[in-house]
Amino acid sequence: MNEARLKAVKEKFAAGCALIDGYIADTAGLRAEKAPPKLFESMEYSLRAGGKRLRPILCLAAAERCGVAAENALPMALGIEMLHTATLIHDDLPCMDDDDMRRGKPSNHALFGETLAVLAGDALLAQSLEFPMAQLKNIPAQNVLRAMRIFAGAIGPAGVCGGQVLDMFAEGTEGDPHYVRRVAALKTGALIEAAVLTGASLGCADEAVLKRYGDYARHLGSAFQIVDDILDVTSTAEELGKTPGKDEEQGKLTHVTVYGVKAAGEMAEKESAAAKEALAGLLEEDDFLMLLPDYLVHRTC
Ligand code: IPE
Ligand code: IPE
Ligand code: MG
Ligand code: MG
Ligand code: MG
Repeated sequence: MNEARLKAVKEKFAAGCALIDGYIADTAGLRAEKAPPKLFESMEYSLRAGGKRLRPILCLAAAERCGVAAENALPMALGIEMLHTATLIHDDLPCMDDDDMRRGKPSNHALFGETLAVLAGDALLAQSLEFPMAQLKNIPAQNVLRAMRIFAGAIGPAGVCGGQVLDMFAEGTEGDPHYVRRVAALKTGALIEAAVLTGASLGCADEAVLKRYGDYARHLGSAFQIVDDILDVTSTAEELGKTPGKDEEQGKLTHVTVYGVKAAGEMAEKESAAAKEALAGLLEEDDFLMLLPDYLVHRTC
């Protein structure tokens, strides 16, 4: 990617992050209503701990390209980020990946204890569905319904929960390329796909167009998890904001254990190219969504 494009994608990413963070701050009062303060504190801690905000940025970008202004899509985008945050809280628990660091800070259970971490994750999950349904305005009801159905599907047994189960119970699958790709498609790909498709669905009902956005997101999600697996062995805690070397320590089946770092990197490049191919012709070559796959493949955190 040339310098000008890299600069453009970085700026768009930073602007998206600022928009999401501003919206999180502005809507804190709505979320605090009726919540026990202890629970609210634990939920907000993880939601506001930082992070790349990739999924809400994807949601807003897809919505805008399908004719929905970012301000009208923000409740959907925040719902997606709430759910993502819930999955991270649970992923870090001692019964799962057992990580004390997340987003450069103590992970939720390290600070609040396991009981509150489990419940903060549950509460964020429920709120991730309620918040967009309550806050989305100026969008046709059938579009909201379709987006919420896509979102709920991505959370459940055929999405994140299913993927996390496959990830945690992978005995006997050593070296199985189909298995590792299926785990990634469910635990990570499903939510990235939902981020893009919920955004697009708020403004578009054209099945052929939605299919292309879905293909884009699946390839992007695959590239994203491949790189996450690579960074686990090549990066540092300072850069990652989470503990490197966790996958090996936990005996995880990853793209690195199956393919090795080099071939996994090549696979991420191929997935990035396939993501762009899915939207070629629909979007300009220098559109943010077309630059994002390469940017994410070459990320360091
Ligand atoms: C981490 O996601 C979990 C995976 C699916 C690999 P991110 O790398 O997007 O985490 P944050 O949101 O930036 O903290
Ligand atoms: C996590 O995958 C996917 C979800 C949180 C659903 P990882 O376990 O690889 O994520 P990190 O590396 O802890 O962020
Ligand atoms: Mg995990
Ligand atoms: Mg983990
Ligand atoms: Mg990981």
